[in-house]
Amino acid sequence: MYTNYKQSSEAGVITGQSKSRTFVSFSINGKAYQVSGEHSLDTPLAVFIRDVAGLKGTKISCREGGCGVCIVSAKKYDPTTKKCITISINSCLCPVYSCDGMEITTVEGLGDKTNGYHPIQARLADYNGTQCGFCSPGMVMNMYSLLNENPKPSSKEVEDNYDGNICRCTGYRPIMDAMKSFSTDAPTSTTLPCGVIDLEDLGARCCGSGQAGCNGVCRNKVPGCVDLGQIEITVGDKCWVRPTSLADTFTIMNTMLAQGKTVRPFLGNTSVGIFKDDGPFDVYIDLKGVEELYNISQTKSVTFGSNVSLSAVKELVQKLSIQPGYGYCKGLLHHLDLVASKSVRDCGSWAGNVMMKQKHPDFLSDVFVILQTAGGVLSIGDGSKVKTVSPVELLKEDMDGKLLLSCELPPRDDSYFVHSYKAMPRSRFSHAYVNAGFIMKVDTANNYTVVEKPMVIFGGFGAHLNRADQLETYLNGKSLLDPNVLTGALSVIEKETQSTADYVSASPKCRTELAQAFFYKFLLKVCENKIPANLKSGMANLDRALSEGQRKFPTDQQSWPVNQPLMNTHGKTQTSGEAEYVNDIPTMPGELHAALVIAGVGNAKLDSMDATEALKMPGVVKFITAKDIPGVNSIAPKIMEPEECLVSEDILYAGQPVGIIVAESQLIADAAVKAVKITYKDKKTPILTFEDAIKHKSFYKDPENEITIGDTKAALATAHKVIKGNIEVATQAHFPMETHICLTVPKEDGYNVYAATQWMDFAQNAVAQVLGVPCNDVNMEVRRLGGAYGAKISRSFHTASASALAAHLLQRPVRLLMTMNTMLESCGKRFPYYAEYEVGVSAEGKLLAVDAKIYGDCGSNRNDSTIKHTMGVMDNAYQCDNWHTYGVTVKTNTPPNTYCRTPGYTPAIFIMESIIEHVAKALNKDPVEIRKLNLYKEGETTLRKEVLQYCSVSKVYDQLLKSADVQARAQKVADFNKNNRWKKRGMCVMPMKNAVSWNWYMGNALVNIFNHDGTVAIAHGGIEMGQGINTKVIQVAAHTLGVPIELVKCKPNSSMCNANNIATGGSITSEMSCKAVYECCKTLKERLEPIQQNLPPDTPWPQIIQAAFWQKVDLSARYYVAPRGSGPDYFVYAAACSEVELDVLTGETVALRTDILYDCGKSLSPEIDIGQIEGSFVMGLGYWMTEKTRFNLETGRNITHGTWEYKVPLAKDIPRDFRVELLDEAPKPVGFMGSKTAGEPPLVLSMSVLFAAKHAVQAARADIGKDKEYFALNGPATAEALQQACLVEPKHLTLKA
Ligand SMILES: Cc1cc2nc3c(=O)[nH]c(=O)nc-3n(C[C@H](O)[C@H](O)[C@H](O)COP(=O)(O)OP(=O)(O)OC[C@H]3O[C@@H](n4cnc5c(N)ncnc54)[C@H](O)[C@@H]3O)c2cc1C
Ligand code: FES
Ligand code: FES
Repeated sequence: MYTNYKQSSEAGVITGQSKSRTFVSFSINGKAYQVSGEHSLDTPLAVFIRDVAGLKGTKISCREGGCGVCIVSAKKYDPTTKKCITISINSCLCPVYSCDGMEITTVEGLGDKTNGYHPIQARLADYNGTQCGFCSPGMVMNMYSLLNENPKPSSKEVEDNYDGNICRCTGYRPIMDAMKSFSTDAPTSTTLPCGVIDLEDLGARCCGSGQAGCNGVCRNKVPGCVDLGQIEITVGDKCWVRPTSLADTFTIMNTMLAQGKTVRPFLGNTSVGIFKDDGPFDVYIDLKGVEELYNISQTKSVTFGSNVSLSAVKELVQKLSIQPGYGYCKGLLHHLDLVASKSVRDCGSWAGNVMMKQKHPDFLSDVFVILQTAGGVLSIGDGSKVKTVSPVELLKEDMDGKLLLSCELPPRDDSYFVHSYKAMPRSRFSHAYVNAGFIMKVDTANNYTVVEKPMVIFGGFGAHLNRADQLETYLNGKSLLDPNVLTGALSVIEKETQSTADYVSASPKCRTELAQAFFYKFLLKVCENKIPANLKSGMANLDRALSEGQRKFPTDQQSWPVNQPLMNTHGKTQTSGEAEYVNDIPTMPGELHAALVIAGVGNAKLDSMDATEALKMPGVVKFITAKDIPGVNSIAPKIMEPEECLVSEDILYAGQPVGIIVAESQLIADAAVKAVKITYKDKKTPILTFEDAIKHKSFYKDPENEITIGDTKAALATAHKVIKGNIEVATQAHFPMETHICLTVPKEDGYNVYAATQWMDFAQNAVAQVLGVPCNDVNMEVRRLGGAYGAKISRSFHTASASALAAHLLQRPVRLLMTMNTMLESCGKRFPYYAEYEVGVSAEGKLLAVDAKIYGDCGSNRNDSTIKHTMGVMDNAYQCDNWHTYGVTVKTNTPPNTYCRTPGYTPAIFIMESIIEHVAKALNKDPVEIRKLNLYKEGETTLRKEVLQYCSVSKVYDQLLKSADVQARAQKVADFNKNNRWKKRGMCVMPMKNAVSWNWYMGNALVNIFNHDGTVAIAHGGIEMGQGINTKVIQVAAHTLGVPIELVKCKPNSSMCNANNIATGGSITSEMSCKAVYECCKTLKERLEPIQQNLPPDTPWPQIIQAAFWQKVDLSARYYVAPRGSGPDYFVYAAACSEVELDVLTGETVALRTDILYDCGKSLSPEIDIGQIEGSFVMGLGYWMTEKTRFNLETGRNITHGTWEYKVPLAKDIPRDFRVELLDEAPKPVGFMGSKTAGEPPLVLSMSVLFAAKHAVQAARADIGKDKEYFALNGPATAEALQQACLVEPKHLTLKA
């Protein structure tokens, strides 16, 4: 809950304007709310919805507008169109005080299990569009807003609507299918609901209609349904004002400034998603009430007010682009589409964006570039006079006491060429590496001569460079067809764009080359009629048509409900927001909130901590340090190396927790963290890279670090060719949408600990150890996780023990919810790897010897090291008689790295596939040929000396080559590459082998049958985190007991029912839990058999159970699964074919198509397994292509700690055509009930996208004669890395073929 503030009941206390209202009012799901100063002025709507309205369906994750989980729908009056419109709002950014007059709908307002589900909720669930479900309410509400505005959208409109919602689990394919099923051009489905929705079913509540849910809050005044009266609310010494006229706004602003107060005029407030530390301000002036600023008018030119949203600007520019004089707008449309996300554009104004640039001149604003490129003239006013300036001139203005009023776009004749560009790390919703805009008057009849000084604007080179003055001067009067002019211009650009390193953006070299590329692209566009056909590929944007997909799987009805394609059992509770995550557990009486204080440097000693200022903040209760720990200061179990809960002296990495702030609210705790002053001593440069670590020999001692098979030395000596190389792959953040969280509640017998953990048993131990209490004092409970992917195995112990420590010391319930920023800075991630290899091959390409030295970066603690696993599985699917792998565990000053989906295999297979690519290149052969030649065959022995039985890898690979039509498509790729100089395509078909071992698993299940109605409840040892474990368990239980699945439910795990379970991970917990449940059900069946025999054959199940109960049969069964053995239980085989198109000039890519063929045995639940395959693949896609972690090299801080900096894939990043097939007639499957796992292995298949992109780079290099040598493409192959790999130099940018 948020602190109650003392409010002023009188209007005008601050502004002296007594006409003001002193409250804001709005409705949520039809219920009216009035807020008049009880909450701090920065209270986000999301927090109000959750903590005051008590509606927990709306989730919070990034708190910076970057993930979409908090999206709600808002109906509001739009003074621009004079209509009520419905938009999606990122409720984490929107202050509750700015919601006056809005009708807000949250996911609870649509439907639930009592009142029935809304079609959007139902369809998302029916299409299996949920896994962990944390993103689902945001997905639903985003669609709800769209359908309210446009009940009959096209599929494209639907897809475009999803440029700002992250789902880390599903891979988006089923979400897109579900949402596109509402479109007018949706493909019809015989099995799933589809078709446009009736307005009645939409449940749109029209303001003032008097229909159920309409309470008249919006005052039934359409147009003008909102009372835009002046509002003034004081909270403490701060004030919120919403004036209704420009004149009042200036009066208030100037009065306040004259009193020395700090003032923030704002509209959407979305800028806080990027600039979190602006302020604090004394007075907030909400410009929403100022109708004059919404106007759009057209006389000779077009003028739009500063309150016009970015979405409305985009619509306007689109309309203008077909009007005489405004054809130039076409050159800006694509760029406008790439600004932020739909929901940010709906709320945010163009003026707010430009003012962000004004206040933070190094902000890479696209809107600034676009408006400058359009020749926009900005009006600024101070209440007495109005001045016009260009966007560039605005940067020099002192804007104190002034407002941006409007922008005027002039018409231009067709002799002007106008275009703007943006290159970025992800296809959508990203800051630019570089953006650029050009206006050039060109006399095409006169040799394409530039007839007046053009305008060129570049962004991405720091605050000093906006207009490229030298380039503009150089080009004036020159002929663009003159090759020397192009050469000269590129050289001017090189000089003019010199910049320094920017940690988050691309390198200075890459950015300069992008600026040159944009100029070249523009030139190609201008000279379109004069250039050869193959160069035209340089001017076009990467095209990504509407996405589509296919899912194919065999199913055997005889074994249903096992092997039956079913939706996620929690689907509808997730899409309706009813599914409860830890943060949704209702507030406990006396509850407090905790936040971790983390070290700002790595590799130092803690000198001092001063929390005086933090403790002075209202609502701050306590600051906890290592000295307060009553037990052992380690979160690791005793059998492992200790890992401090809170730093006592040595700081091993930046981000390491040093203290805990406890406060009355989460907002206060998070704010107070920033007020704790920390000093450090003995600071040393942190070791962050392999290069540093190898130089300083910063390694852990590891005794068993070598595997030798055969004699590599001898084989290398006689090989036809010996190939040497190295390859590196970086880390990956798990990025669960539910950040780390734990709620601890003191109880009479100890503590109830509700932790988001994959390893309840070790979390229980960590809590007990830190508190110094016995384990039976710690009652753990885990219902579900909002995503984990390995993040919540050992990395959950910190949150659990810190929350418990605070609860223990204060004897009050304490909830600790990590911010996304803290999570990304403080928590360990996937292990980075570096390998040096030497390989001997025959003339045909048969592997004769592989010798690899593999370095795995454990970070500052190696408890979770995966190096041994990596060394043992780097053979992937390839046979070789001689192996030598040698592992080195590297120690760096980064957070302790940990398991991340498919650990060990991912780097190992990447090293091996890179070797295969290297071999193919060295022998000048097709990599497909090399792969086929080396594939394992039945009965062969692996690098870990496992004998391969039922080996289907050749079958899978060959079948995919056919089903993906590889041969014909390879020819098309070659033709495409021949005809296009600046766009290239590449394709890769890779196999995969993955050994699945059950022997490390220990876990149980408890199955109860309730005697009164025969229903079944299960508590199994696996943690449901989106992988569909509960669905599979229910299928197995229903099948084994012979009851309908509706009778069976899974309950939360608890340390009471599921003590001593191993972590959920390694992709085996689903089948092991199924096995435990199966055994329980078998036991129960055996107990019931004698009862059944004495009953008539068709006795209904409930009566059998009743009879058994009265005959004193134990209706509960428990089973503990603890397989023994050493080798793998079975192997998973799969293959993937990916095709990619690359923009050679920018390095950006589109994954055109991916086909996956996967041997899942006899899948327990084909829809769930295909969902896992798609989701895993897309998580990997991010790893290989966009997710780059960067550290500040001096402090060691992870600076890619939020959605602005760290780019996980979005819906438009997945393969445009995504086909997944489960192998039919899988050879004698050996997993549980004949099934094989699908949770983790598919992730490695996504490296096919990286290798496809590499082939596209090779094709680009071939055009400039630089394809003779092999080159390594490290992961992630970001747009920057690919652009650099293409080796384009200014001399290659010509207008000739
Ligand atoms: C997740 C995310 C992604 C984004 N991606 C991009 C992107 O790809 N490219 C890009 O260019 N931008 C991007 N943005 C920025 C986004 O476009 C801006 O946040 C938005 O346009 C700001 O509009 P607003 O109305 O919310 O401004 P506010 O947040 O309300 O205000 C922003 C600033 O402008 C001032 N201000 C507002 N209106 C006026 C006025 N009329 N006169 C004087 N001062 C005023 C405020 O005092 C404040 O300093 C992104 C933002 C987010 C949150
Ligand atoms: S929590 Fe609001 S967008 Fe991420
Ligand atoms: S289902 Fe989308 S984040 Fe988990």
